[in-house]
Amino acid sequence: MVDDEEPIRRLLCECLSASGYEVAAAGNGAIALSLLMMQPFDLVVSDVRMPVLDGIGLLEQVSDRGLDVSFILLTACGEVALAVKAMRMGAADYVLKPFSPVEISGNVRRALEQRQEARTLKTLVNEQEAKIGRFARKLEEASEDMLELLVAALDAREENTRHHSKRVSEYAVSLSRRMGLDSPEIELIRKGALLHDVGKIGVRDSILLKPGELDNQEWDEMRRHPEVGYSILNCAASLRPAADMVLKHHAHYDGNGYPGQWSGEEIPLGARIFSVVDCFDAMTSDRPYRRAVSYEDAKREIVRCAGTQFDPLLVKYFLKTDPGELDSIHNRFC
Ligand SMILES: [Fe+2]
Repeated sequence: MVDDEEPIRRLLCECLSASGYEVAAAGNGAIALSLLMMQPFDLVVSDVRMPVLDGIGLLEQVSDRGLDVSFILLTACGEVALAVKAMRMGAADYVLKPFSPVEISGNVRRALEQRQEARTLKTLVNEQEAKIGRFARKLEEASEDMLELLVAALDAREENTRHHSKRVSEYAVSLSRRMGLDSPEIELIRKGALLHDVGKIGVRDSILLKPGELDNQEWDEMRRHPEVGYSILNCAASLRPAADMVLKHHAHYDGNGYPGQWSGEEIPLGARIFSVVDCFDAMTSDRPYRRAVSYEDAKREIVRCAGTQFDPLLVKYFLKTDPGELDSIHNRFC
């Protein structure tokens, strides 16, 4: 109860105490503010005109400091505009003078009931937000599990290239970060890279696992894996934005790749990134028919193909990769 007129303050304090409320009194806004800073209160009932700090000033301080307390302003007839301003600033109510203690008691009860209702509502909203957050995390985990299952299914069939997709995904994320791409785009590239070869699920074992060289017909079938991957990714709404990257991950910068003649910027950035790191990983991994080449030899080959197979700008970024980071990715998934 904040009022500079002692008789009114005492009368209102007695009336509210008699109604069962615990009341503290202050002779101006500054004293009230120091009390509010020391302990929590549910409600401030304040006069407008007071020395040192008036009612509006107190409300401003309460609002600026983010104090969680309801506010009722006691105003004279000429101060209605101030009362409206106070309501805009977040006051719960105002009471015009002269008033009876019974009237004030009713306003206090209503303001406290509103406060309780607002708190209950806030608790409900918080609970619902937490539930939605948990549900979203579960969905995200389920989506990540689905990706892992697809990659595991591919790795199980093509044992020789086990973990290739994981490494390509990690290299692609590392290159994307170095290029300063934003998080949503990097996440899309990560998913696309994980599934870039998922279309190989549609390639027959006799071709996919053939130990020797493929003939022309077999190559034709193998070269369909980007289109099969594209169809697979298009089945899931969350993966659809990455489908075009998968379709074009064997497109060459100069237009000489497959399965289409896309070139330059017609090839999505993600696909141009996969192209570089896919070849780097293939060259630096052992295969049954050949040993892995060194990082330096693989980088030389990538530089040689900059502008033909690879986007030259991406090659520049890739060459800046710390060999320690390449090693760490390679060793984590081998
Ligand atoms: Fe591929």
